[in-house]
Amino acid sequence: MPKTAAIILAAGKSTRMITDLPKVMHEVCGRPMLAWVIDACRAVGIDRILVVVGYHKEVVINAFPGQRDLVFVEQVEQKGTGNAVSVCQPHLDGCETVLVLCGDGPLVRPTTLKTLMETHVSGHSAGTLATAVVKDPTGYGRIIRDSYGNLQGIVEQADCTVAQKEIHEINPSYYCFQRAAIFESLAKVQPNNIKKEYYLTDAVKILIEDGRRVVAISAVEPDEVYSINSRQQLAQVSQVMEQRIQDRLMSSGVTIVDPSNTWIDARAEIGKDTIIYPFTYIHGRVKIGRNCSVGPFAYLRDGTVLEDDVVIGVFTEVKNSTLCSGARARHHSYLGDATFGKNVNVGTGTITANFDGKEIHRTEVGDNVYLGSGSILIAPLHVKSGVQIAPGTVVEDGETPGTGK
Ligand code: UD1
Ligand code: CA
Repeated sequence: MPKTAAIILAAGKSTRMITDLPKVMHEVCGRPMLAWVIDACRAVGIDRILVVVGYHKEVVINAFPGQRDLVFVEQVEQKGTGNAVSVCQPHLDGCETVLVLCGDGPLVRPTTLKTLMETHVSGHSAGTLATAVVKDPTGYGRIIRDSYGNLQGIVEQADCTVAQKEIHEINPSYYCFQRAAIFESLAKVQPNNIKKEYYLTDAVKILIEDGRRVVAISAVEPDEVYSINSRQQLAQVSQVMEQRIQDRLMSSGVTIVDPSNTWIDARAEIGKDTIIYPFTYIHGRVKIGRNCSVGPFAYLRDGTVLEDDVVIGVFTEVKNSTLCSGARARHHSYLGDATFGKNVNVGTGTITANFDGKEIHRTEVGDNVYLGSGSILIAPLHVKSGVQIAPGTVVEDGETPGTGK
């Protein structure tokens, strides 16, 4: 059976971002933007995923260790999107259908890719594009159709005539090609444009001029097209992605009191009937159980685990720590590298002093412990179950009754 491949273009220098980091490594809701595109390809069962790398390629490759389904292909000189696809030719043996996507378009949805591929295969086309109609087409390649609606080509913003600039149907760079056809056409592309680059969009035009069947389907929702060329677009795309993350959580039974003033990482998991109050920031792999209450003004960082019925209140930061069922930290605490047992009361202003200037140490607090307000827990520390710590205590291992192993 012929296989499917995806080529994700991620070699560019990202001049417009003003950054030393490869553009595709900038994070959208906690993950590099490239990771979102890769996952969309995985979700539709692509057999081989090629990622074209160039600018600071080692940074990109190192961000995906051990992911054996990825093949990184080097584009030595960034000579344009067409050239980036050309360098993949030797890696596509046995693949008949080839998706091409850009690493700077993390909003791409698996359903769009599925529609794109199905339309392409069932139409026996040489190329199929998914297009979108947007309010503000600035910066995108415009879709040129004849008076019958047939696709004629794509013109880049910089090469548009005044009339073409008025076209609102744009190219989000979601393509599907028949393998032999696209490479035949790419071989004919010339860098005859303002940027002197080999454009993939020109290969589409050449296919049409050569009489091959190329179809453009308007299948992309406007909120899916934004790609990231600037910091402004990074913020805009992150906002759309954040809405999707929160929608998913709300659909699974989480209450988010004020979505626009809440930020939740894509990697966070939150259980049913948990309430997230405003100005809460959840970053990293955070796991929250059922029926918890978080915020307002809570900061949950990577490695936080809240079991069921946990309360994290105002101005409380939690990092790499577990709070077991029924534990409460209602006000003004820093809880880092610690475990708090069942029903522990963490009094106002409790701090884990987890760093001694050289190393980080853990704090273990047993079940049903009462930590009075203003407790300073100096790690490494073990507090036995059932112990009561008076307010204002500086707790050190072995020095306070009920501490030490
Ligand atoms: C491209 C399309 C444009 C479309 C837009 C959608 C072309 C010529 N233009 O424009 O029609 O509307 O995407 O987002 O294709 N890259 C490489 N190697 C290169 C050049 C680019 O790998 O030599 C990669 C970049 O890293 C990036 C992607 O290709 O991830 C797109 O390149 P970019 O320069 O952002 O293209 P746009 O100007 O946005
Ligand atoms: Ca782009």
